[in-house]
Amino acid sequence: MSYRGPKGTYDVYPGGGQGQEPHERPELWAWAESVARDFFRRYNYTEVRLPVFEEARLFIRSVGEASDIVRKEMFVFHDKGGRELSLRPEGTAGVVRSYVEHGLYKLAQPVKMWYFGPMFRHERQQKGRYRQHVQIGAEVIGSADPLVDVEVISLLYNIHQALGVRDEIVYLNNLGDLETRRRFVPELRGYLKKHESELDPDSVSRIETNPLRTFDSKNANTQALLAEAPRIGDFLSEEAKGYFEAVKEGLAVVGVPYAIDERLVRGLDYYTLTVFEAKSTALGAQDTVGGGGRYNGLVQELGGPEMPGIGFGSGVERILLAANAPDEVPKLDVFFITLAPEARLPAFSLASVLRSSGLSCDLDYADRSAKGQFKQADRGGARYAVVIGDEELADGVCSVRDMTTGEQRAVSIVEGPWELIKALGV
Ligand code: HAM
Repeated sequence: MSYRGPKGTYDVYPGGGQGQEPHERPELWAWAESVARDFFRRYNYTEVRLPVFEEARLFIRSVGEASDIVRKEMFVFHDKGGRELSLRPEGTAGVVRSYVEHGLYKLAQPVKMWYFGPMFRHERQQKGRYRQHVQIGAEVIGSADPLVDVEVISLLYNIHQALGVRDEIVYLNNLGDLETRRRFVPELRGYLKKHESELDPDSVSRIETNPLRTFDSKNANTQALLAEAPRIGDFLSEEAKGYFEAVKEGLAVVGVPYAIDERLVRGLDYYTLTVFEAKSTALGAQDTVGGGGRYNGLVQELGGPEMPGIGFGSGVERILLAANAPDEVPKLDVFFITLAPEARLPAFSLASVLRSSGLSCDLDYADRSAKGQFKQADRGGARYAVVIGDEELADGVCSVRDMTTGEQRAVSIVEGPWELIKALGV
C-alpha cells in the first residue's frame, strides 16, 4: 500500500534542488516570505493571521453566488454542529470579516494589513494552478484616496520585482462605481441577448447572472463578438473617470509599467472602480502572477459601516515559477568532522555553543568515514569544516578548514570554544 499527496497539492521538501520545481524548494519559500515581510514593514502594513476556514456563506456573499469560485471551486464541509463551512478560496473576505468583527473601523484609518497563507480551490490541476496554493496578500480598508490604489499596485509590483519576476506588466481597468455598473450591465446584457445563438454555452448561462464575466470567456467566437460590445469605459461617471486618471498618474510617477485592458473584469464580484492583474510572459497559460482591486461596498455588505477598501493577492507558486530563482544550495557555516568515537561528544558540545552564537552547524549522524563526512560538508555548502580526531584531542585543538580555499589551521579548544568562535569570525 503506498500513499500520495492529494490531487492538486505539492510538497515543499529537502531535495537539494535536484528535479524539484521552484515552489517545492524550502529555501525559496523562506526567501519569498522574508522579502515580502520586509516590503510590508517598509510600507507600514500589519500582519494578520486568520482561520483557513470560515462560514461558507461569507464567501458566497462576498465573492459572489454566480462566480466560478463559489459555483465550482469551494471545498465545503459541515462540522459536527451542522454548520456549513468552507476552506478559504481567497483572503479578502476573511480580512473584511475580521475588520468588522473587531471594530477596526474605530482605529485610525486606513487600516493596512497583509497575510501569507494557503488558499483552497477545487480546480483542474496544471502548471501554476493547484488545489492548495499560497497567496501573499494585502488589504487596505478605510480610505478612498487614489494614492492608496497606487500604493497597493506598486507594492505588488515591487515585491514581484524584488523576487525576480520577469517581463511583468500590470493590466488595469476601471469597473466604475455601482451607478456606472447599474447603467452598463443592462446595455451589455441587451447586446449579449441579441447575439445569444453565437455565444458559447457558459457565456449564455452568464447573461442573466453575471454578464461582465463573459469577457473572461476563452471561446474565440464569443471574444470576437465582445470586441463589438458596449465598453464600460464609455459609461464611467465623471467622478470615476477622474479617479482612474489619478491612479494612472500616480503609477507613472512611481514607474510601474501598466497597460489598460478594458476587458479585465476579474473573477470575484466585490470589485468597484480600480481592478488590476500583474502578468508575466515568462509563465504559460496561467500567466497572472497577482491581481486585485477596490471593493468599496464590501465592508457594508458584511455588516460594517460604509468603508472603502482595496487589496491584492499574489500566488507564491507563480511568483517562483516566473522568477529567476537563485540556484545555490543553502549555506551551512560549519560541518564537524569527527575521526574518532571519543571526538563525537566534544564536537557535539562545540556545535551546541556555536549554534547559541548564531552559527548554523551540523555533524555526522550516519557513521560516515572521514571521506564521507567531507563529502557531506561539501553537499551542505559548509563554509568551514572543523575536524577533531585522536591527535587533535591529545593536543587540545581542532583543525579548522576553509572549504573554499582549502586552508587549514589548528585552533585551541583547551580553554573552551572562544578561540574557535574567533577563528570563525563571529
Ligand atoms: P485572485 O485573482 O482570485 O484574487 O487570486 C490572486 C492570485 O492567486 C492569482 O493571481 C494567482 O497568482 C493566485 N492563484 C489563484 N488561484 C490559484 C490556483 N488555483 N493555483 C495557484 N495560484 C492561484 C483573489 O484571491 C483576491 N482575494 C485578491 C484581492 C485581494 N482582491 C482584493 N484584495
